[in-house]
Amino acid sequence: MDIPFSRWNLAIERRRSRRHFDPNLPIAPETLAALDKVCNQFAPFPHARSRLITESAETVFKGIIGSYGKIRDASAFIAFIGNMDGPFVQEEVGYTGEGIILEATALGLDTCWVGGFFRPEVAGSLVKLSNNERVLAVTPVGYSREFDSWEEKSMAGFARSHTRLPLSKLVRGLPREKWPDWVNICLEAARLAPSAANRQPWGFDVQDNSITVFVRTRGPEFNVSKRLDCGIAMLHLEVAAADCGRRGQWEFLPSPQVARFKIYSQSVLSALTQCGR
Ligand SMILES: Cc1cc2nc3c(=O)[nH]c(=O)nc-3n(C[C@H](O)[C@H](O)[C@H](O)COP(=O)(O)O)c2cc1C
Repeated sequence: MDIPFSRWNLAIERRRSRRHFDPNLPIAPETLAALDKVCNQFAPFPHARSRLITESAETVFKGIIGSYGKIRDASAFIAFIGNMDGPFVQEEVGYTGEGIILEATALGLDTCWVGGFFRPEVAGSLVKLSNNERVLAVTPVGYSREFDSWEEKSMAGFARSHTRLPLSKLVRGLPREKWPDWVNICLEAARLAPSAANRQPWGFDVQDNSITVFVRTRGPEFNVSKRLDCGIAMLHLEVAAADCGRRGQWEFLPSPQVARFKIYSQSVLSALTQCGR
């Protein structure tokens, strides 16, 4: 599936994690069908897939203790599934899942990545996993209530919900005054990516024609791989690049690096345009 870059780039700004849903606002069948289609079609890597489940969503979040991650009244959820045989499964799932989250946002739905506080065995039985597959994360989908509960407000405070680190703390490589024009736009989009507990574990190494994403922070992962968070930032970076006319290709790299996005030269880009890609 071709990525709808402009549509998803707009969704990057609009997306926010929402945890409490309005049981009186069901999702229209045509909206569910559109979301289901993207879940089935957006699978750019071999070891990551997504499935929309419209039954028993409550059971995936039921009995989870603590206000962080307490999801309420979701009527549907999406499972982000990784085949653990893949050496880069975490970043593949992050990238793929964020595409689905941005499409859901573009469809007017609310979401919240949930990596730790859900029941993987229940989610797994609902999606029917094959050998070596695991549900690495899920998102509820629906229409959120207004910020009406103290829990959701305190949750926003706990994770310092929407605040982000400045680029000066995240970037190494070329000094800012030497960045090509597209770099700042891409990094601003990557910086807005969601991450577990808003830990923003990514760093970016800027060179003339490439940006390498790496894991910048040390310390425990608490059940959710930092490489999955980095996969989410990768998608934001590529979407913003394409929206300003820069196309490129990812090369996955061993730890602590994650992947390098190399911009296509003008001649490769023209060749691709000629064959309609
Ligand atoms: C991989 C991942 C796992 C997450 N897991 C949870 C979770 O278990 N429970 C929860 O309430 N929020 C979870 N979040 C949501 C983050 O707390 C949220 O994205 C972050 O605070 C930034 O806020 P924003 O999404 O509104 O920009 C997760 C986010 C990501 C990307």
